[in-house]
Amino acid sequence: MDLQRRTLLQALAATVGSAATLALPAAHARPARAADFHRAVAADPLLRPFAGVADAPEGLASDTPLLRGRWPAELRGRLHRNGPALYERGGERYHHWFDGDGMVQQFAIEDGRVRHRGRLVQTAKLRAERAAGRFALPAFGTTVENPLPLSGADSVNPANTSVLEHGGRLLALWEGGSAHELDAADLSTRGPVTWRDDLKGLPFSAHPKVAADGTLWNIGTAGAHLVVWQIGADGRLQRAQVGAHPYPHGMVHDFAITDRWLVVPLPPVRFSFDNEAREGPRRFPMDAGQPLRVLIARKDDLARQRVLELPPQFVFHVGNAHEERDGTVVLSYVGAPDNAFLDRGAVALMRGERPLPAPAGTCIARLDPVRGTARVQRLDDAVEFPRVHPACVGRRTRWLVSACGAPSGSAGANALLRGVQVLDTETGRVQRFDYGEQAIAEEHIVVPRPGRSGERDAWLLGTVYDARRDATVLNLLDLAHVQDGPLAQAVLPYRLPLGFHGHFRAT
Ligand SMILES: [Fe+2]
Repeated sequence: MDLQRRTLLQALAATVGSAATLALPAAHARPARAADFHRAVAADPLLRPFAGVADAPEGLASDTPLLRGRWPAELRGRLHRNGPALYERGGERYHHWFDGDGMVQQFAIEDGRVRHRGRLVQTAKLRAERAAGRFALPAFGTTVENPLPLSGADSVNPANTSVLEHGGRLLALWEGGSAHELDAADLSTRGPVTWRDDLKGLPFSAHPKVAADGTLWNIGTAGAHLVVWQIGADGRLQRAQVGAHPYPHGMVHDFAITDRWLVVPLPPVRFSFDNEAREGPRRFPMDAGQPLRVLIARKDDLARQRVLELPPQFVFHVGNAHEERDGTVVLSYVGAPDNAFLDRGAVALMRGERPLPAPAGTCIARLDPVRGTARVQRLDDAVEFPRVHPACVGRRTRWLVSACGAPSGSAGANALLRGVQVLDTETGRVQRFDYGEQAIAEEHIVVPRPGRSGERDAWLLGTVYDARRDATVLNLLDLAHVQDGPLAQAVLPYRLPLGFHGHFRAT
């Protein structure tokens, strides 16, 4: 057995082991009662999307959403989004927003029309819990009593974090297990993807990056080892590397690529799965005073790596990264002073409470991989879900698109996002559109205009929950004039659960 294969198998064993630790019994730990949430949300309709959906195999569908404005005929393609959606079984409710079973939404846009489909991903977890009639498998932020036996990380995989089309496949993604392949025609689930037999079950995380040549790069964590995936534009596995040494302490969620490097922020957060999430000790403690570490590793040789230390910060998402001529790596990311949203905000939402503001802002870090030095500049406030033009991934980028909230110090501010902004990273200037206080804005994706190559020659596509209508609205905006608001809207005849991330594929 060669070293690479042996390392892979050890890493897989570690992955299964870490999933097994999720099953630690905790006699006092029970999912929150659903009735508490529904009482609370009756007084705050803005939080209705956190009610989630029922386990209905047919899902949601509308061929005739209310169209407003003009949907351009030249915009043709599919927007897919994913997020936690099923939060309740048997009168019990998950504690943490991130625990819900994934539901993939599809907006098909063609000839000025928009159609919507949404279906729960039919994971092994969903099927097992449907059969059991209860939450029976451990989740990220909720412990269950008398858990069913686990056979690996995919036993607990809710496939709830992102979705993308690549190499002819539609993949629903979660950070701790396999990608699930779906049929783009009807969103039915084909099952977990095994890229190669000896890699079965190794995590394929939810923030892959597609380089300009069509190669998909992704990471995963197998026990204490980093896994790096390289998938060709044809959808075939080109290479998988597993780090020979454990990666430094920290939470892995998102990463960036440059021409030569993988850039992985590692905020100093530990997962304590034997802690109860609702009261008492928290599940995701952040180590006070510990730096934000950033792992920089060569794409072609994971062993060639360096860890840089930045001032203490919590990070979910990166915007982008590129290399300057002198070798400096410029990384944009959304940094927060602490992990309050992960640890408490996402728990409060499940109880029907509005969490406190999340003072997360866009940061630009200049990293010197040779000297190991780093400089960080913060540019704004109250943003999340950063996105860039898809042709700019791994390259110099001027315009950064984010969902945004009211500034964290302003009256009535809370962690819910209500607008979209375009940040000029060269000047620091921001243009924003505010959907209003009865709206929750989600991630907005940059969609290049056909036949145009400029970074600003693009639309934005983003969903918003409108509490006045109790409906989800798909919005189309002009990236260069975001402050003018939507060019076109498609108002669904129902609300969708709030999702995390998505992807647009032109057709
Ligand atoms: Fe994410």
